[in-house]
Formats: sequence, C-alpha cells, structure tokens
Amino acid sequence: MGPAGSFHSARRLVKCRTKFRTSPWGTSVTHAAITGWGKCLPPNVLTNADLATFLDTNDEWITSRTGISERRISHVSLEEMAYVSSMRALAAAGLDPADVELIVIGTCSFDDQVPNQASGLQVRLGAKRAAAYDVNTACTSFLYARSAANAVIRPGGVKNAVVVAGELISAFMDWHNRGVCVLFGDGCAAVVLEATDKVEGLLGEKLGCDSDARGTLIVKGMGGRYCNTGRPYGETSWIFEGPEIFKRAVLGMSGACADVLAAQGYKVDDVDVVIPHQANLRIMDAVAKRVGAPADRMFVNVHKYGNMSAATVAVALVEAIEEGRVKPNSLLLLPGFGAGLTFCAHLVRWGERTTPLGTTDVDLPPSDRTALEIVQGYLTKAG
Ligand code: UT7
Repeated sequence: MGPAGSFHSARRLVKCRTKFRTSPWGTSVTHAAITGWGKCLPPNVLTNADLATFLDTNDEWITSRTGISERRISHVSLEEMAYVSSMRALAAAGLDPADVELIVIGTCSFDDQVPNQASGLQVRLGAKRAAAYDVNTACTSFLYARSAANAVIRPGGVKNAVVVAGELISAFMDWHNRGVCVLFGDGCAAVVLEATDKVEGLLGEKLGCDSDARGTLIVKGMGGRYCNTGRPYGETSWIFEGPEIFKRAVLGMSGACADVLAAQGYKVDDVDVVIPHQANLRIMDAVAKRVGAPADRMFVNVHKYGNMSAATVAVALVEAIEEGRVKPNSLLLLPGFGAGLTFCAHLVRWGERTTPLGTTDVDLPPSDRTALEIVQGYLTKAG
C-alpha cells in the first residue's frame, strides 16, 4: 500500500498536493508557472456585413446564433503569427529565445506537415537547444499542448517551454459554406512556462475524447487521404453537424470542469475567472449554467474573433491578463472542446506577477489587402 494507506487518505493527499509546496511525504513538487504571455492577431477584420457580400447570410443571424460580430483573416503564414506571439511572450517572461528548452505548438492548420511547425519556429527564434513538436487536437490544442509541456517540466526534463497555439484556418475554409465559414477566424497566442517549486500553474487537468461522434466534424481535404488523388490539396468541404456538436460541447466542457474541480478538491465558487473555448456565446452561457459559474466570472471575446480553434483559449487567457481580470494568485478554470471530439479542462493557479517584465517591437509586416480581398482570393482560388 502507498503512503496514503487508504482510499480516503489518498483523496486527502491529492488535495494537499495542490495546497502545499512539498508533498506530504517530503519530496519537492515541481510546477510549471506561466511567466510570459503574448498574442498576435492579424490586423485584417472580416465583418458579418463583409460575409453578406458573397453569402446568403446577415449580421442578425450570425450575432443572434453565435455572438460573433467579426473575425480576423491572416495575410501571413502561421509561422509568422507564431513567431510574433512567441517573441512577445518571451519578452514578457524576460527569457532569451536562445535559452528556450522546449517548443510545443498546438494547431491543426500547419503551414507544412513535414517538417513540423514547431521546428520552423525553433529556427525563427534561434532556440537551438530546444526540443520542438506539434500537438493536434483541433480546438483544444492549446490546452493539450500545455499539458504536454507540463508533463516534461514537472519531472525535470526541461526548465522552460514556449507553448504556442495558432490557426490559419481561413486557408482551409470552405468559403461557400455559410453554416461554417461565418464561425471561424485566424489568430495566435503563446505562453512561457518555467519550472517552479511554488504551487503555481497547472494544478490539475481533465482530458478526454468523445470519439463516437468524431464524424460530426470532418474537414475533407486536409490530410493524406486526399493527396495524389487529383484533388487540389487544401480545397476543403466540411462536415459540420452544428446542433450535435453544440450539445456535446456543452456536456464535454461542463463535465470536464466538474471532474477537475472535484479531483483537486475545489468548488466552482473558488474559481475567479472561467476562460472557455470561444466557439459560440450560447455554448459558453450553457456551460456557465451547468457548472454554476455566474456570467460575470466568464471571460468572453468571441464577438471580436469568432472561433480561432486552438488559439481561442490562448488569446482569451492573454486578454484576460491584459484586461486585469487575472489577479495575483487567481484560480482559473479553462475548459476546451474541439474536433475528435476532444474535451478538457485545466485548473490553473496564477502566480504573483500579472504584468510583463518586458516588451518587444517585433510585429507582423503590413498587409496590402483587406480581409475581404484575401477571402475573395480564396473564393477564386487565387490564394
Ligand atoms: O469549436 C468546436 C466546434 N464548433 C462548435 O462548437 C459549434 C457548435 N454549433 C453551433 O455553434 C451552432 O449549432 C451553429 C452556430 C453552427 C448553428 O446554430 P443553430 O442554432 O444550431 O442553427 P442550425 O444549424 O439548426 O440552422 C438553422 C437554420 C438553417 O435553416 P433552416 O434549415 O432552418 O431553413 C440553416 O440553413 O439557419 C440556417 N443557417 C444560416 N442562415 C443564415 C445556417 N448558417 C446560416 C448563416 N446565415 N450563416
């Protein structure tokens, strides 16, 4: 029998691990604190009115069904957005890119599948000592990537990591499908994780996959089965069963929240800010209701960006910090949901510092096209 001796004392020990700097049996527990954060939103805005110029849709339908008013369309590669986000996060942490030991990118819209996205970022950052890999769980990829980095830091494999989540989903969108293309946008954000003996960062996680329903969200055209078939790579058609995904998103996120809170011995009243996946305002409202979180504790930015897939929780976390919603020692709950159908929730204890240590003037190059012109290029296959 382990040190706990019984099931009940084992539960008590789990709770202790989140509240004390060392484990009850004396060994030190390493955590991975978030010490830097940065976002990169492409400047080109595509409004609901822009969409109505080439689709049978309107602002009233989109805002009332989803809460989305506008989204961003990128004029640069995913690597460029990842580079700017990472440099901003590293400046905020006061960490030299050359000292980065691990790079994990969460995305499903890679610039290339081989070589991987993270190795391209490693070159751009000059992070020669770093290991670099990608994680793809669609919209939950930031949280899964963060779990992956956490699992390497905690036993001492590396001392720090840059975790990036970004999507250039506009390039893979079926811009003829009004049931899907009005929902999504491009964006990116990054965090820096650093090993600490303080009880900070990820306290607990619930990760899962509702694969019975994986057929409800498929992007046909992204993947090897479409290569060498005569079909132009990247020309997509989406299977997207909105109402079914909606139902499972609510159940998946609220269930994961309840599980991670119970496992760590917390109640929803202990949580200061809930930062959920931003797919649809109605989904977030339903999750808040099921979890028992008051509306003013939910962080929402879906109206500005739509669903940026992997980037949504990462960008929302950065904006929650920038807007002063994250205070020293805040307890954060971050539920996610995506194709697969993957679901998860992270419980995070913030540290003392909520301001960046530094800034950088690294930025995207200017765009010579509007968002609508970029999308019109995709519609006419001109890129
Ligand atoms: O990130 C993870 C994956 N994504 C999600 O979590 C999304 C989950 N699902 C949803 O957010 C919602 O189901 C949607 C926003 C996608 C759709 O909302 P809904 O209330 O479930 O609408 P619906 O699919 O039942 O469609 C209702 C009607 C249909 O017309 P009829 O058949 O009732 O005449 C659609 O053809 O709305 C029509 N419609 C539109 N009308 C105007 C669908 N898209 C549009 C549009 N503009 N853009």
